[in-house]
Amino acid sequence: MSFSILGTGKAVPEYVLTNDELSTMVETNDEWIRTRTGIEERRICKGETITELCVNAANEALEDAGITADQLDLIICSTMRGENLTPSQGCMIQKEIGATCPAFDVNAACSGFIYALDIADGYFVRKKAKHILIVSMDNLSNITNWKDRSTCVLFGDGGAAAVLGEGDDLLSINITANGNDVVLCIPHGENSSPFYEHESKPALLHMMGNDVYKFAVTAMPNGIRTAVEDAGLQLSDIDLVIPHQANIRIINTAAAKLDIPREKFFCNINHYGNTSSGSVPIALHEASRSGVLKKGDILALCAFGGGLTTGSCVIRWSK
Ligand SMILES: CC(C)(COP(=O)(O)OP(=O)(O)OC[C@H]1O[C@@H](n2cnc3c(N)ncnc32)[C@H](O)[C@@H]1OP(=O)(O)O)[C@@H](O)C(=O)NCCC(=O)NCCS
Repeated sequence: MSFSILGTGKAVPEYVLTNDELSTMVETNDEWIRTRTGIEERRICKGETITELCVNAANEALEDAGITADQLDLIICSTMRGENLTPSQGCMIQKEIGATCPAFDVNAACSGFIYALDIADGYFVRKKAKHILIVSMDNLSNITNWKDRSTCVLFGDGGAAAVLGEGDDLLSINITANGNDVVLCIPHGENSSPFYEHESKPALLHMMGNDVYKFAVTAMPNGIRTAVEDAGLQLSDIDLVIPHQANIRIINTAAAKLDIPREKFFCNINHYGNTSSGSVPIALHEASRSGVLKKGDILALCAFGGGLTTGSCVIRWSK
């Protein structure tokens, strides 16, 4: 017995940053960004804090699941950088929604939601939880190098939440890591120690886009294939793929490599860009709310990101 997804919720900032506005900040243009990435606009935090977004997504997911915060046995927040180093973002959510259960964070970059599902699976299998809240939220705009056109056009802020309950809808799950701080890295930033002998680097995202691209176009199809095989299914059994929204060309390549019809890949990258660990659950939430998902559908979720990490799983949708 593992889990079923009982409810989802989403929260993105109000401010819409278009490709045209970005073109006034760095030397780029709408056509380049659309054709190379599929992104048309992204949301950026102005007035919102990451905690407010987490709480909004969490409350919507709780309402959708039909449970209250006091029924939660665990909160897992996947994020690269919460509001504070401590308390964890999970504890900030716990405080604001009025829960009393344990709470912690997991950092697996863009694969964070699937890492959190894998951790949650263990709690259900060990019968340590009846209800778990996962919130996957990132606020990459505050570590983006806004002078680097090769990265600043790609990312956006936002995330989503899922409430899990006991059930048997998780059919397989895999996570991987391949330690690599060269192709994608965000240093911590200033070090306050007067004793430390190493140089501290600014907290800005560095990425070798082509290397990440090469990793992703192999990792995404391999992850989906492995998860489907582990579930004892065929690729043709998958009703909908919820892929990490990093680049539309990565999604198109994965679809072609797997010979899964492209229409089965849910995409909303045009509106949000890459929201890191928020990406897969935002897409899951929108697929559910838009009626694309039907009860009984078999879903493949797949993500890759800094680490380098990957996560993939197959889930039955029984909502
Ligand atoms: C970043 C990425 C979009 C770049 O696309 P690309 O087609 O590989 O483009 P290149 O890096 O080869 O750059 C091609 C040219 O466009 C230029 N360019 C880069 N960014 C640009 C921008 N925003 N606007 C206009 N031109 C740009 C480059 O300078 C280069 O010019 P040159 O040929 O004169 O040197 C692509 O590699 C990618 O999506 N990688 C994966 C990133 C990712 O998924 N990261 C998140 C991991 S979770």
